[in-house]
Amino acid sequence: MPDLFSPLTIKGVTLRNRIAMSPMTMYRSTDGKMDDFHVSYLGARAAGGFGLVFPEQIAITPDGRTSTSCAGIWDDSQIEGHRRVTDIIKSFGGVPAIQLGHTGRKGSEVPKYKTIDGFPGGSQLPPDHAQGWTCRAPSAIPYGGDHSFDVHELTVEEIGDLMQSYADAARRAAEAGYQWLEMHYAHGYLGASFFSPLANQRTDQYGGSLENRARFHLEALDAVREVWPEEFPLTMRLGADDLHPDGTQFDDSVTAIGWMAEHGLDLADVSLGFNTDDMRENIMAKPGFMLSRATRVKREIGIPVATSWNLGVPAMADSVIRDELIDLVLLGRPALANPHWPVWAARELGHETPFELVCDDWRWWLENFRGDDDSIGLPPAKVVADREENAA
Ligand SMILES: Cc1cc2nc3c(=O)[nH]c(=O)nc-3n(C[C@H](O)[C@H](O)[C@H](O)COP(=O)(O)O)c2cc1C
Repeated sequence: MPDLFSPLTIKGVTLRNRIAMSPMTMYRSTDGKMDDFHVSYLGARAAGGFGLVFPEQIAITPDGRTSTSCAGIWDDSQIEGHRRVTDIIKSFGGVPAIQLGHTGRKGSEVPKYKTIDGFPGGSQLPPDHAQGWTCRAPSAIPYGGDHSFDVHELTVEEIGDLMQSYADAARRAAEAGYQWLEMHYAHGYLGASFFSPLANQRTDQYGGSLENRARFHLEALDAVREVWPEEFPLTMRLGADDLHPDGTQFDDSVTAIGWMAEHGLDLADVSLGFNTDDMRENIMAKPGFMLSRATRVKREIGIPVATSWNLGVPAMADSVIRDELIDLVLLGRPALANPHWPVWAARELGHETPFELVCDDWRWWLENFRGDDDSIGLPPAKVVADREENAA
């Protein structure tokens, strides 16, 4: 039976444990590039023991960013910064993962923690603002609320160009040293909006029936699989449920994930659609609220699954792996709060050698210099304490 600290092998890649740092947009790029901030912040999480380390959503085109300060990989000049990121993650024993995305009708935003010219954080900037643009989407339907500027409905030719952009981005990602590629088709961004009838009201081959609404997913998987090395996992974060009667229905998602598996999907990262603010179920505060859906995909489709959302309590993260509900735990906010979450969790769970997750020189000091005592500041080493008690 696997636990949180069991390795996970998919294709030719083995993660040292089942703990991934979930992608998180940081709004700290210039010209879409990764720099010293990303190297230090992501290197710290790899040094802290995360098996898989994602930077943020990485845009495949400039208009696929959330804001002008978000990262991308639409140009060869951006490869070098990504290479520095993958090098540091690998140097600490982590596997570097990239999440390729396009924000669709949720782009042209003000960074969450800023105000720009009176536009509050998280709201949309108008297309004629120096830091804004006209968003592109399956249909000319704005998201709504503070994202209500006109959007451009993609032509079939433009969709073809986007498939090429996915493939070009994947080729650059491999060149930059990433070993795991996730396509971001959740959270109301472009991929998710093609699947959801709330956002997609096209009448051509990309809209209407379930087959048509899944076409954008399958074509993109095919385009990426062409260029992405066969030995590296290709995964997708899916907006599997809009929690709205007129939006993405989970049953449809399960069917479509089955098709995606036939198109080379190696793991499904099951998340929410977020194609509307009008969600009819209040689940956001519940622990592990996506677990039952992810488990159903695992059982019915038979591919490995991952999910995030409120899994940061170590006992819970461990039990969802032990109970074989999911294969990989993604942590967002816990990874921001504690770069050494895996080491801390290992101590908390009574792992015999928690410091094997850090590099050898730190491990030596932590295990040998005055012993593994509580003054290290992590939770008490339960196994050591139990062992001493038993010996006494
Ligand atoms: C600051 C921040 C930025 C995020 N950016 C992204 C992103 O770029 N791509 C994505 O798929 N999810 C993003 N998310 C969602 C997280 O990856 C994760 O799924 C979510 O926070 C739930 O996990 P948690 O409960 O462990 O935080 C972001 C979350 C946070 C807190």
